[in-house]
Amino acid sequence: MERETRRIVILNVWAWLALVSLFTIHTNSALENNNPGFISIDCGSEAAYSHTETGIWFETDNDYVGTGSNHMVSSNVNLNYRDYGRQLNTLRCFPKGERNCYTLKPQHGKNNSSKYLIRAFFSYGNYDGKNEAPSFDMYIGVNLVDKVNLTDYADTYWFTEIIQTVSSESIDVCLVKSGPTIPCIASLELRPLNTSIYHTPTAAPQPLLYLQLRIDVGSSALPPPYGDYYFRYKDDVYDRIWRCDLDDTNGWYPLVMESLNLDSGRRSSDIYKLPSQVLRTAVQSPNVSHPLQFDYDNLYAPLDKPYEYYVYFHFLEIQQLPIGKKRIINITLNYQTILTQPLVLEYLKPVTIAPQKTSSGSVLFNVSATSESDAPPILNAFEVYKLITQLDLPTQARDVGAIVDIKSAYQISRLNWQGDPCVPKQYAWDGLICSSYNTVPRITSLNLSSSNLKGQINMSFSYLTELEILDLSQNELEGSLPEFLAQLPKLKILNVTGNKLSGPIPKALKEKADLQLSVEGNPYLCTSSTCRKRKKVVIPLVVTFVGAFIILSIVSLSFLRRRRLQGVMGTKKLSCFNKIEYVNSNKQEFTYAEVLSITNNFEKVVGKGAYGTVYYGFKGETQVAVKILSPSTQGFQQFQTEAKILTRVHHTCLTPLIGYCNEATALIYKYMAYGDLANHLSDKNQILLSWKQRLQIALDSATGLEYLHKYCKPPIVHRDVKTSNILLDEDFHAKVSDFGLSKIFSNECDTHVLTKIAGTPGYMDPEYQITNKLTEKSDVYSFGIVLLEIITGHPAILKTHENTHIVQWVNSMLADEGEIDSIMDPRLQGIYDSETASQVVHVAMACLAPSSIKRPTMDQVVKELKQCFPMENIDDSICIFTEFSVASISGESSLAR
Ligand SMILES: *[C@@H]1O[C@H](CO)[C@@H](O)[C@H](O)[C@H]1NC(C)=O
Ligand SMILES: *[C@@H]1O[C@H](CO)[C@@H](O)[C@H](O)[C@H]1NC(C)=O
Ligand SMILES: *[C@@H]1O[C@H](CO)[C@@H](O)[C@H](O)[C@H]1NC(C)=O
Ligand SMILES: *[C@@H]1O[C@H](CO)[C@@H](O)[C@H](O)[C@H]1NC(C)=O
Ligand SMILES: *[C@@H]1O[C@H](CO)[C@@H](O)[C@H](O)[C@H]1NC(C)=O
Ligand SMILES: *[C@@H]1O[C@H](CO)[C@@H](O)[C@H](O)[C@H]1NC(C)=O
Ligand SMILES: *[C@@H]1O[C@H](CO)[C@@H](O)[C@H](O)[C@H]1NC(C)=O
Ligand SMILES: *[C@@H]1O[C@H](CO)[C@@H](O)[C@H](O)[C@H]1NC(C)=O
Ligand SMILES: *[C@@H]1O[C@H](CO)[C@@H](O)[C@H](O)[C@H]1NC(C)=O
Repeated sequence: MERETRRIVILNVWAWLALVSLFTIHTNSALENNNPGFISIDCGSEAAYSHTETGIWFETDNDYVGTGSNHMVSSNVNLNYRDYGRQLNTLRCFPKGERNCYTLKPQHGKNNSSKYLIRAFFSYGNYDGKNEAPSFDMYIGVNLVDKVNLTDYADTYWFTEIIQTVSSESIDVCLVKSGPTIPCIASLELRPLNTSIYHTPTAAPQPLLYLQLRIDVGSSALPPPYGDYYFRYKDDVYDRIWRCDLDDTNGWYPLVMESLNLDSGRRSSDIYKLPSQVLRTAVQSPNVSHPLQFDYDNLYAPLDKPYEYYVYFHFLEIQQLPIGKKRIINITLNYQTILTQPLVLEYLKPVTIAPQKTSSGSVLFNVSATSESDAPPILNAFEVYKLITQLDLPTQARDVGAIVDIKSAYQISRLNWQGDPCVPKQYAWDGLICSSYNTVPRITSLNLSSSNLKGQINMSFSYLTELEILDLSQNELEGSLPEFLAQLPKLKILNVTGNKLSGPIPKALKEKADLQLSVEGNPYLCTSSTCRKRKKVVIPLVVTFVGAFIILSIVSLSFLRRRRLQGVMGTKKLSCFNKIEYVNSNKQEFTYAEVLSITNNFEKVVGKGAYGTVYYGFKGETQVAVKILSPSTQGFQQFQTEAKILTRVHHTCLTPLIGYCNEATALIYKYMAYGDLANHLSDKNQILLSWKQRLQIALDSATGLEYLHKYCKPPIVHRDVKTSNILLDEDFHAKVSDFGLSKIFSNECDTHVLTKIAGTPGYMDPEYQITNKLTEKSDVYSFGIVLLEIITGHPAILKTHENTHIVQWVNSMLADEGEIDSIMDPRLQGIYDSETASQVVHVAMACLAPSSIKRPTMDQVVKELKQCFPMENIDDSICIFTEFSVASISGESSLAR
């Protein structure tokens, strides 16, 4: 991943160099958003941005929190601090609910725990005009970490910083009401740390480290602009905030090195990675016999007595002592010596001392020189942390994962469904009952009666393995009553009364011991034994991989009866599937057992679609992902269509596939390192697509569609062209994917009348919706929408503008402003050629002509796009046919360009 990130930077730099002479550059800060693993949220902000002072990319909080409202601090309050003032000026406040949470998903592996610095800034700034600063509690996960009281900080700010080892997939940061006032937060930051630093001698589970003090001593002796402020990112790779303070205290004399450039050998042994700015200043006592003394309570508000504290001492010898002379350090903390042997400092070798003991209630230390020392003691920096013992155990991770999946699958928006589901007990989610709070809490009862649930019964219910009661009554659930519910070992009550379930009741459920099953009020559920029996079919199919990464999809489905490949194309074309025509050198067929091993028993979910879940895994060295379709006939049909098309059609601008096997169906796609285009256009995504990359993506996807329309006989209409179906590979080349809704015309006629309209709202051709007549021009329309999204960065339906359709929005903007710049994605920061941009908009508008006859064909679009930007040097050689680009869907002639 790191390599990838660097590459993007290089790409961006090239794009920048290429464009710098041609266009106005407003700022280059957007090119710097490569803060590895950082999550930086400016709560309450309306737009993402790159912070000028630090180069940190700040996102809005839309993706992290579902409740609360945005506010600006009063213009009378000045919060313009250099390094974080901008974040303090917007807030998210939570007038409703007791506990409101942000959910952060750091990028560590599922069973890897990692250490993070988590920091929240709080400000009030009289945003509500009431002059009443709030106080409230801050939790991380289930642990209370701070009682925030802004009364004395009403015109300034407060921040809480925690270092924590995290093994769960997500971290909840929650604000909890502790009185009548409304909790607000200004920003939230997460920084990955090296797991080898900030250890404590305490037994597992490691306590949380609450930052009490982090001081860069000696730095106020530096000339401005140094020393006035704080040091943080990029000086500090971990973005710790170092306060410049304490150098005239009680005989502490600054010692400054002009410049410091540690060689890489020194650096690599220094795992705490203190910034050079911090290390090059120190304090020294006046003479060898005089210690550097520190007493927290004397200098600051007294420490909370019942707590344990922990201090990290940072040293760097910045004075070159005469040969043979040594500086030898002794440290006492709360009157106890903490070094087993004195510390001999070496020139320019950083050392961090982490004591073997904690200190109770106070932090007093002496850094002294031993009697053998030739120089007085020095100190470069130190940190004081309060230890917060993890008291409550969170709900079992698998239960949390399952209930979070259920929440998102059914879009359940209950106010208190935030944070840990069971803990603390007083904030447990409505409708849940959890087991014993002495050990790891488990969900034992889930009541979602009358909760407006729509769609199928989700697989995730089967992961709640301690469940005894599941009440899903009075909803609009449809599809089958799944057999997997029978696998819940302790299930005693299952109530699905009053839904729209259909098909038979699985035998396993009927026969499950001690299960009280209520199924009344499901008119299509067949309760008698006359139902035809379902048979479980597992179908692996196998596909090509061009690059190093692969997605492998496997489908495990239940069918009313075993179905051969038929349906949309009719039996005649079945022959297409009876032989593998693209033979990869590797093994093609996978058994279900192999799929289990590849995915490590479906351990990690990497994506969810309407019809299935994509799991991550490894085949040998290669990363793969496996898609399991939800047990639905409809999904099955879509999968079949996809399989049919992709086994026959090969083109580098389409997701490739190479084979199948009789018993099972699986699709292997080339893994797309950068996911889908929709995600990349969202301002939540840190990787910014340059104008050139966007043009390339437009051309690639147009070429893919052109191929389907013009070079496939009979032609294929994709029917679901949208940005989330355009995937990006490691070079940001685009591939059209998801042929589940595609239509292959069984004769040479141009049009086809379909009984059922299909597609995605926002992308559907209005003419097709009215006439039911499907032609390639419907794809052209959808592609026009995709082009507008690429240009504007807005989704097809602008949620932020009262669900305005993008075409309306573009038209109204162009009518009002007349300037192309008014619709261009602001994230491009003006780095594009207006001429080219207008031409692309022109092509998009032609594609969007209300009458399909007036729209260009895809091959005209491709030509236009190529003409649009000769100077942009777009790589059109990439979209060549693969060797086996035989598009003989009907078994007729193959063709090539
Ligand atoms: C765990 O972390 C190590 C080192 O960072 C990495 O090599 C390994 O792949 C990770 N494992 C998982 C399951 O993510
Ligand atoms: C992850 O956990 C599973 C089961 O707990 C274990 O089999 C596997 O080896 C672990 N992987 C790593 C990389 O630690
Ligand atoms: C907040 O601090 C103010 C002033 O220090 C104090 O008067 C008030 O009681 C505190 N509020 C809470 C809830 O602790
Ligand atoms: C953490 O630091 C150690 C020692 O410098 C280093 O070997 C290791 O690679 C680092 N781990 C990460 C994840 O950076
Ligand atoms: C060291 O400094 C202290 C305080 O300035 C002073 O009292 C003491 O006499 C000095 N000792 C020597 C040996 O200079
Ligand atoms: C620090 O040293 C001074 C003078 O040597 C002594 O009086 C004091 O008790 C020491 N404090 C600690 C915490 O060791
Ligand atoms: C370090 O300081 C402690 C407390 O003042 C003292 O007992 C000990 O002898 C000192 N160690 C050395 C090596 O000077
Ligand atoms: C679920 O909640 C509803 C009302 O919210 C209640 O009528 C029903 O009895 C509950 N179900 C169970 C199993 O407790
Ligand atoms: C199932 O739910 C329905 C509607 O909520 C209720 O009337 C019925 O009593 C429930 N059945 C059982 C066995 O709890």
